[in-house]
Amino acid sequence: MIYDVIVVGGGVAGLMAAIEAKTDTNRVAIITKGNIFKSNSAMASGGINAVLDPEDKEALESHIEDTFKSSKGLGDRKNITYMCKRSSEIISKLVSYGVPFQRDEKGNIEQRPFGGAGINRTCYVGDKTGSAITQSLIKKAKELGIKFLVNTYVMNIIKDSNRVCGVISLRRLDSTVLVYPAKSVVLAGGGYAGIYRGNSTNAQDYTGDLLAVALRAGLTLTDMEFVQFHPTGIAKTNYLVTEAARGEGGYLINSEGERFVNELDTRDKIAKAILEQQNKGQKVYLDLRHIGLEKIQKKLPSLYTVAFNQVGIDISKELLEIKPVAHYTMGGVLCDMTQTKIEGLFVCGEMSANKIHGANRLGGNSLLEGTVFGELAGQKALEFSKKHEFSTIDYNLVIKDILNVDKIFAGETSKNFNAIRVSLGNSMFKYVGILRTKESLVKAFDYIKYLRNQSYSLHCINKERRNNVELISILELRNALEVSEAVILAAKKRKESRGAHHRSDYEETKEKYTKHILIKEIKKGFFKLELEEKDLLNKIRELIINKH
Ligand code: FUM
Repeated sequence: MIYDVIVVGGGVAGLMAAIEAKTDTNRVAIITKGNIFKSNSAMASGGINAVLDPEDKEALESHIEDTFKSSKGLGDRKNITYMCKRSSEIISKLVSYGVPFQRDEKGNIEQRPFGGAGINRTCYVGDKTGSAITQSLIKKAKELGIKFLVNTYVMNIIKDSNRVCGVISLRRLDSTVLVYPAKSVVLAGGGYAGIYRGNSTNAQDYTGDLLAVALRAGLTLTDMEFVQFHPTGIAKTNYLVTEAARGEGGYLINSEGERFVNELDTRDKIAKAILEQQNKGQKVYLDLRHIGLEKIQKKLPSLYTVAFNQVGIDISKELLEIKPVAHYTMGGVLCDMTQTKIEGLFVCGEMSANKIHGANRLGGNSLLEGTVFGELAGQKALEFSKKHEFSTIDYNLVIKDILNVDKIFAGETSKNFNAIRVSLGNSMFKYVGILRTKESLVKAFDYIKYLRNQSYSLHCINKERRNNVELISILELRNALEVSEAVILAAKKRKESRGAHHRSDYEETKEKYTKHILIKEIKKGFFKLELEEKDLLNKIRELIINKH
């Protein structure tokens, strides 16, 4: 089947892109590797930031300012301004698609406080905002006649010189390699925090597949070293305890019952403060007891149920032990307002580096960024598809992927992909976690190189092609190892501390690193890294901030 526009990824960015790209007459498909209802977006709990009144210049400036400040000089003011200005329209669009935002007694959308925010600007649906938005967008996409190709794993994109022609994918059902030609393609496959398996809020398959695909297509990645650790995952299960719990007045306390941090500071600072407590032998708890059952059940109903079901804690009466966990990745494919260097190829959402979040993302800005830039990517992909015809597919590329699949089925192995996956997650958390040093990064690099070599001798133990779970896991793991190497190299190159990247051997932030690190894979297994000059406007801006 051929499509005018193919969108890869079924989170809010991908759904929004597909909706915008659809007309009455064209063919648009969304490809997802798993269940459409289980994206990371659907798990985002606390809310979506917005300035609801576009005429409120002060509120708009404050949103721009908070986002830029949180980016630690690596955000782009022009792009941030675009996102913040678009937020009121986006909320109206979401409302028109049926998102039931919480409203006050006058019928106005309520906004709750979130970390790093000067004012209340987070719109919400209880503590299931991402899920509510995702469901409404899926419904809208289905109404419009967008085709959902689920359980379909994208192995590579196909190019004709510098023009995208479609994607090569693998159907989970029967392990068949399929080609989907398209006039334009939007990549919206999410981030790579799932690499920190066992130490992450992400679904385990959020391991940066499409970033590896982008590298293989010759694209540049940037900001890969910036991995956001959410301060509060349930200690035993990693379940995301929404920032809204602190926004609604929850405290963080240690084993001695002492508060030790401003609970509404930015995530980088709180995660580090919690780690310091843990390193002193303290446990850290979320204390919601003073909030009362009624408010908890109204504002945090999912957390109330999950804490009870997962760890037997009644949060209205008991403390909930938490720990920081990998949650979001700021790095991604370098692009200019969703446009990549490949014609007809656009990126949006967590896997893109639109220079919004820089070194540290503000809570509530991910759903906003996903919807705003998803909308833009969809519009651009539609425009491109209207102006261009289908391009020629080079079937040699497809044969290469078919042979790759055959090879994984053909060989024998005594190695277990799952053991490598778990070991990757633990070593990334230990050595490339909240705190990093040259020593820890070198250890991680050597270990990941070793795992990468091991991964090339992995084969399916089960040779049955129908519903084979090993095949995609092996491909995923190889991609994850490639992406991990990029993260480690970038973290090693950035010899300073900035936002979510904290080097214990270089505690200070250095002006010379107010730049993005760009990464390309020049040939399989060999990366080239360089520092990009930041734009002049940001430089001036930063000088002003540093002066005050
Ligand atoms: O804490 C949360 O509810 C997560 C929100 C976000 O990552 O933006």
